[in-house]
Amino acid sequence: MTGGHLVLVGLMGTGKSTVGRKVARALGRDFVDADSEFEVRQGRSIRDFFERFGEEEFRMIESQVLSDLLSTERPLVVATGGGVVLSETNRNLLRSAGHVVWLRASVETLVKRLSTTRGLAKRPLLDGDVEDRLRTMERDRADLYQSVADATIDVDSRTADAVCELVVASHGGVA
Ligand code: S3P
Repeated sequence: MTGGHLVLVGLMGTGKSTVGRKVARALGRDFVDADSEFEVRQGRSIRDFFERFGEEEFRMIESQVLSDLLSTERPLVVATGGGVVLSETNRNLLRSAGHVVWLRASVETLVKRLSTTRGLAKRPLLDGDVEDRLRTMERDRADLYQSVADATIDVDSRTADAVCELVVASHGGVA
């Protein structure tokens, strides 16, 4: 059994929040979604924030949120935003956070999952050609997710419950 937090990383649409909530329930821990925490702190949606202040500012505050969450004493389940691994500081924080699981999906799966009004409304970085955006992100980020992950789970043909079970098992079980 690994100590510390259980942290989910991966591209947008891989199910970090849905699975994270289930994993937290299974482990009897609190769940925190870093994007939601960002929105609560800023009092505005991520899209609104991007439009007013831009990505650079977003990344600075995202790092602060990550660092605050990971310094919480009680072990949490944390769903991160897909771009959290872009910063070396964040990657180092993640490496010492506890147990990090990379939820990995093919771009085809992600395009299907995210091409809804709601999926796109929340995600300013997908404006334009969604598939092209996701392919670029996958190319730029796959090695970074790999570099922080203690376990990798392919989510393509799996339900959220099945992924949850695999995450819990990768962590050493529930007890
Ligand atoms: C981002 C992913 C989003 C959110 C922001 C930027 C990214 O989170 O943090 O729109 O750079 O991949 P989700 O992965 O939860 O959609």
